[in-house]
Amino acid sequence: MTLTLTDVTLTYPDGEGRLTALDRVSLDVPPGTLTAVVGPSGSGKSSLLAAAATLVAPDSGEVVVAGTPTAGLSRAGRAALRREHIGIVFQQPNLLPSLTAAEQLQVMRHLSGGSARAARRRALDLLEAVGLAGLADRRPHQLSGGQRQRVNIARALMNEPAVLLVDEPTSALDHERGAAVLDLLVGLARERATATVLVTHDLAHLDRTDRTVRMDDGRLAQAPAPAGA
Ligand SMILES: Nc1ncnc2c1ncn2[C@@H]1O[C@H](COP(=O)(O)OP(=O)(O)O)[C@@H](O)[C@H]1O
Ligand SMILES: [Mg+2]
Repeated sequence: MTLTLTDVTLTYPDGEGRLTALDRVSLDVPPGTLTAVVGPSGSGKSSLLAAAATLVAPDSGEVVVAGTPTAGLSRAGRAALRREHIGIVFQQPNLLPSLTAAEQLQVMRHLSGGSARAARRRALDLLEAVGLAGLADRRPHQLSGGQRQRVNIARALMNEPAVLLVDEPTSALDHERGAAVLDLLVGLARERATATVLVTHDLAHLDRTDRTVRMDDGRLAQAPAPAGA
């Protein structure tokens, strides 16, 4: 398994006590598959991604990314693991206004080394893979919301991550575009063998995923297919 969480519990300080954001959560995500995570606001979905991304260390339990147990890693070790193996797509694209679509991706390569030429080539390949061939030289204000989100996804793939973590990429998009982003992510998972976890509010189209799980109050359960999907 490329991403494995075993019995992960995560709490945050909350007044005098602790708030349990993740309660003994276990999840295996094989390469080449997409798992969707649904559930109400505040149920722990983003916390699940943060733990999988090694951005927060759980109180207990184990997170294994690309064969590496993360519990014993230093802060620097976790950062290196993220750089090498994890792609993260947050809800807000956070693109740099002055950079073109291709440059947004090329910057990622500068962080992890490699030639500028190779980075340019890879950036153009990825933009094509997300359906933005021909728009590589546009700046964010020259792109639609859906196009910006595709740049965001392509950018997360620059380091060829084994694990791709995506937090509600469709909430800013209309229904049809949301479906297109989901299809894109499922296709990318297959093509690039990434273990993808997608947090989504959009309950339609979940039949396109390999699996859907549901968070409720920090606990994870397999979700039945939504009615009418
Ligand atoms: N950094 C934090 N500090 C304290 N509490 C937090 C923090 N992040 C999230 N929480 C709390 O943890 C619970 C789960 O939050 P979150 O994982 O963001 O849920 P979701 O993404 O499903 O809306 C919520 O009660 C939230 O208020
Ligand atoms: Mg969230």
